[in-house]
Amino acid sequence: MKKKFVLICTGIVFFLNACSKDDTPSSAILATPVANPATEITDASFKAKWNFVSSAQNYLLDVSLSPDFTDFVTNYNAKSVNDLNDIVMNLTGGTQYYYRVRAARGTEISNYSNVISVITSGTFVNPDTPLKVKAANNFFVGAAVSSSRLSGAYNTLITTEFSSITAENEMKMEAIFTGPGTYNWTQADAIVDYAVANNINVHGHALVWHGSVPSWMNSYTGTDAEFEQLVHDYITAVVTRYVGKVTSWDVVNEAINDGGGTRNTIFLQKMGANYIAKCFQWAREADPNVLLFYNDYNTSTDISKQNDVYALIDNLKANNVPIDGVGLQMHIKYDSPTRQELQTDVDKVLARNLKLHFSELDVRANSNDSQVLNTLTPERKSAQKMKYREVVEVYNAIPTTYKYAITVWGIKDNESWILNQFNRVDWPLLFDNSFNRKVTHTGFLEGLE
Ligand code: G3I
Repeated sequence: MKKKFVLICTGIVFFLNACSKDDTPSSAILATPVANPATEITDASFKAKWNFVSSAQNYLLDVSLSPDFTDFVTNYNAKSVNDLNDIVMNLTGGTQYYYRVRAARGTEISNYSNVISVITSGTFVNPDTPLKVKAANNFFVGAAVSSSRLSGAYNTLITTEFSSITAENEMKMEAIFTGPGTYNWTQADAIVDYAVANNINVHGHALVWHGSVPSWMNSYTGTDAEFEQLVHDYITAVVTRYVGKVTSWDVVNEAINDGGGTRNTIFLQKMGANYIAKCFQWAREADPNVLLFYNDYNTSTDISKQNDVYALIDNLKANNVPIDGVGLQMHIKYDSPTRQELQTDVDKVLARNLKLHFSELDVRANSNDSQVLNTLTPERKSAQKMKYREVVEVYNAIPTTYKYAITVWGIKDNESWILNQFNRVDWPLLFDNSFNRKVTHTGFLEGLE
C-alpha cells in the first residue's frame, strides 16, 4: 500500500514537470530579455525580435511612438507573444517607433529589455523641424497670437516655427473702434510692430464681423447713412494705418448663416445687401496692394452654406468687386471633414482663380459627444495627427499660385478658444502647455512631404 502511494506521488511530480517548458524551479527570477534590431521593415510593418529567456512561457511586447512609452500603438501594450519575434502591423510609413519586451511565466514578469528604435520605410520626417523651415517659402505658416504673449518662450516659439501671425482678437473692430472717429491702436500696433521687427508676415483679422461689433455701435442711434460712413471710415483708417505692414485682411467674416442664407447682421440691416461689396471696395481704396479675403467656417461639411458662400463670391467677382482670396476656417474635428469633402471645397476656391488661406486651423480631438474623453487616448491622438497631416497634404498639393498661408488658431493647447467654447478638456493645437511640440506638429510636417 505504502509503495503504491509513493508511485502515485512520483507520477504527479513527473506530470507537473512535464507540463513546465523547462526544469527551472518556479521560484527563480526571470532573466531580462535582450531586444534586437527590427528586420523586415516595410512602410506599414516591421519584425520585432529578442533573445530567448530560459524558462519564459511567453513575452510581453510594447510598441510606442514615444521613447518613454507614455502611450502605445493599438494592441501593443504588453501584447503576449509566444515566439521570439512578432510582426508589428498597421503602422504609418516614415514614422519612428520604439519597442521593448519582457519575459513572462504566469504572473512572474521580468524587467524591461533595452529599447529598440525603428523607422518604417517611406519618407521620415525629423520631428524637430520647425514648420516654417519645412514649408520653405512655398506659403506662410501662421499662428493666432495676442500682444501679451509675444515675449519669452512665446517669442522663441513664434520666431522659430512661424512665418506669419494674426491677432486672435486685438485687430477686431471691438478692440480698435472705441467710438465714432476714435480708435485704440495700442494692442494692434504691438502685434504689427513685433512682426515687422522679426520679419514676420501679418494677416489682418477681421475688418467686418458680426461677432465683434462694439457695444456702442450696436446701440447706435444715427441714420443708416451715418452708420455706413462710420464703417467706411473705420475700414479706411485701419487699412491705411498698416499699409506695407499687413499683407492681407479678412475683409468680411462669416456673412453666411449655418445652413445657408445671408446672415442677418447689423451691417446687412443698416447698409443693405451690398454691404459686403462696399467693404471690399473701401479696403481696396485704402491699400491697392493688400490681399483681400472673404473668410468663413464649416463650408466643407455644410453644403447649403458652401453653395451660398460660393454664390456670394461669384456675385462679387461678376460685379468686379476686388477680392483676392478665400479663407476656409479650419475649425475641424479628428474625424471630419473627410479628405474628399475638404478637397471638393478647396477645388471650388481654385476654380474661381482665388488664393486659398486655410485660416484658423485647430483639430478637436474631444469632439465625439457620445464618447467624451478625460484623457487623450492613443487612438484619438493618432486620428487627430492624421487629420492634421491630411489637411496640410491637401493644401500643399494645390498649385503655388493659389497658395497663401495655413494659420493655426493659437499656440498652446490650454490657451485655445476650443476649451472655453465646448467646456471640456481638449488638445486641439500643435504645442502642449509647456511649449513642447506635439505629435500633431509631426503630422503637420508629414503633410508637407
Ligand atoms: O479681453 C477680455 C478680458 O479682458 C476678460 O478678462 C476676459 C473674460 O472673459 O474676456 C476677454 O475677452 C475674450 C477674448 O476672447 C480674449 O480672451 C472674450 O470674452 C471672448 O469672447 C474672446 O473670444 C474670441 C472670439 O473669437 C470672439 O471674439 C476667441 O478668443 C477667438 O479665438 C475667437 O476667434 C474666432 C474668429 O475671430 C472668427 N472665427 C471663429 C473664431 C472662434 O470663435
